[in-house]
Amino acid sequence: MAVKFIDKYTKDFVREHEMDAIKSQVLAAHKTVHEKSGLGNDFLGWLDLPQNYDKAEFEAIKKAAEKIRKNTEVFIVIGIGGSYLGARAAIEFIRSPMYNNLKKDTPDIYFAGNSISADYLNELLSICEGRDVSINVISKSGTTTEPAIAFRVFKKLLEDKYGKEGARERIFCTTDKARGTLKELSDREGYETFVVPDDVGGRYSVLTAVGLLPMAVAGIDLDAVMKGAQDAMKAFDNEDFDTNDCYRYAAMRNILYRKGKTTEIMVSYEPRFAMMNEWYKQLYGESEGKDNKGIFPASVIFSTDLHSMGQFIQDGTRNLFETVVNIKAPNKDFEIKAESENFDGLNFLAGKTVSEVNTKAFEGTILAHNEGGVPNIVLEIPKADEYEFGYLVYFFEKACAISGYILGINPFNQPGVEAYKKNMFALLGKPGYEDMQAELLKKLN
Ligand code: PA5
Repeated sequence: MAVKFIDKYTKDFVREHEMDAIKSQVLAAHKTVHEKSGLGNDFLGWLDLPQNYDKAEFEAIKKAAEKIRKNTEVFIVIGIGGSYLGARAAIEFIRSPMYNNLKKDTPDIYFAGNSISADYLNELLSICEGRDVSINVISKSGTTTEPAIAFRVFKKLLEDKYGKEGARERIFCTTDKARGTLKELSDREGYETFVVPDDVGGRYSVLTAVGLLPMAVAGIDLDAVMKGAQDAMKAFDNEDFDTNDCYRYAAMRNILYRKGKTTEIMVSYEPRFAMMNEWYKQLYGESEGKDNKGIFPASVIFSTDLHSMGQFIQDGTRNLFETVVNIKAPNKDFEIKAESENFDGLNFLAGKTVSEVNTKAFEGTILAHNEGGVPNIVLEIPKADEYEFGYLVYFFEKACAISGYILGINPFNQPGVEAYKKNMFALLGKPGYEDMQAELLKKLN
């Protein structure tokens, strides 16, 4: 069992029969997902993706990655939201949050097009100076402003450096299989393309080419990732609520929400999980936050944030619950040594490992937070590797769909994301937005 749901630290807040009471809603949600009968049912491609992925494209991704690893020192991945977070989360979780600084035989990987920052772009351009560069632009629509601006910049960099012919060998596009400006441009220019399937939304797309090409460039074993996801798919297909940990997690968060615990804080004691937290926040925030409801997804890394957010969690507004992803073993432990002068009084730790100390921090914190009125769900995984990543991704995706249907929303759309875009386009003077521009300028001035 790669993800184990532990509810021991929710017992003071949720009674056993409450899980029994919500069971029928979970089973109804299971039916809705598997019969594809619910809201957003056009976007259920992720459900059997670990089994039914495009095998030919999967091999093409590995081949492209091999080519990139051979001729590239800096690989720029351009995308935002669902076209960005999964790949970055994978690389940091599986390889390292310090991936670029590791001794390695794979390219440095930087992410662009996930903000509209001039400084960030300029700094990235200077990192590329004198180094061999390739890019992967990822955009399902092909028209998202942030990646489109970055793509212009890096396309020009490559064309200036290698000429149009040379650049063509270094530009990889992941986009819609048939439509959109990026697809049209790729066909015209002869860029190698990969597909974001029609029935997989951005935030559920990490196990498609969206996440897989950057992962493969980073030297990640894609077969092991897919094996993890496949095993999770089989494990959580199971209608037996009592043994389906994915469904129990979905149920528990809804029970807590109904009791006024409206913020879920995703917690890990490993910095390598920080971008997984960001990926989780998009998945759950964009899926559930609608129709004036939803659990607000937040995140922390402990013990780091115990020194910043710890006070609030222990003692602030009591609308919180925590979900701790407890990674049982580090990839390599580190023993604490005795110090002859014992200048800091820490010799009592000599002979213990850093991960043993981390475990005690976890146990001590969970008891303290429970005492302070914060229920804790624990999701235990054995370690951080490819298999666990694939497994965890599927676990969270399926739990999100089930949880969203229990909440009574469409977990697969994101109508609210358009509001800022319309205002931004109007303020930038995009043709067709003239009336709106006048209205907004009146409000601003
Ligand atoms: O989950 C989503 O749908 C969004 O986060 C999108 O992935 C994001 O807006 C980027 O869209 P696109 O891939 O069309 O550029």
